[in-house]
Amino acid sequence: MTLPAVDDRIDLAALDSSLVQTRFHGKLHFFPTIHSTNTHAMAQADAGAPDGSVYFADEQTAGRGRGTHEWSSPPGSGLYLSILLRPAIAPADVLWLSLAAGLAVHQAVRQVTSLECDLRWPNDLLLGSKLGSKKFCGILTELNAEVTRVRSLVIGIGINVHQPEFPPDLRNIATSLHIETGRSWPRQDLLAALLQSLDREVNALTTPGNLSNATASILARLERASSWIRGKRVYVEELEGYEGVTEGLDPRGFLQIRTASGLRTVYSGGVREQKTNR
Ligand code: BTN
Repeated sequence: MTLPAVDDRIDLAALDSSLVQTRFHGKLHFFPTIHSTNTHAMAQADAGAPDGSVYFADEQTAGRGRGTHEWSSPPGSGLYLSILLRPAIAPADVLWLSLAAGLAVHQAVRQVTSLECDLRWPNDLLLGSKLGSKKFCGILTELNAEVTRVRSLVIGIGINVHQPEFPPDLRNIATSLHIETGRSWPRQDLLAALLQSLDREVNALTTPGNLSNATASILARLERASSWIRGKRVYVEELEGYEGVTEGLDPRGFLQIRTASGLRTVYSGGVREQKTNR
């Protein structure tokens, strides 16, 4: 793959200044190259790094996706970041933070590019026509917790920004902001907008007494922004695999699927569109 012909360096001091009002101010850590920002952030969490620490890189040599997937992270092409949080929230409510991170990316992409992207539960962001949309952003949220206490949480976000093309094995499923718009969008603007938006989401979810308001807002915004929450025929990649039609999120944020044998809840897998009867 040819490298993008853009000079898109990040001015750390300017980025930090744009985050003065947030929990991320003074806690940005940039790496020209790193194995995986998520792996590094988890290690830093174990070593006592504070809430709001952000680790981001120009390149990852071992970027990780959900399950056993890799995350392609060539130099200068994307945003690869991991955010360490220590929220006063029950482990059972952590899914809300992960869903909120998807909404924060959605908002940042709209603010910077005016694109309206789709959200595929739990955490994929897609662009392109509804018939043939492709993934440009993935989120990997990892948790270190006791049953009743979150020690730390790492939200890892990968956004394909400048990639002009993808290798053959990804070409049918992956896209970038550059491919979708023919333009180069500054990673710094996206990162500032994303962290500002995520800060608001985390504040809403962790303000004492505000959890049910915050989750109602997330549910309502997901229903508006995502074509996958209701009425989508999907194949669920969980257990033996099964198919059905999406029927909203349950009160904990898990996706519900209407199947021939009743309503099922997706706990651990992802979903993909089911275009034909199998
Ligand atoms: C997925 O869709 O499978 C999740 C992809 C998450 C990729 C990001 S890139 C920054 C952070 N570091 C990693 O190793 N993974 C996440």
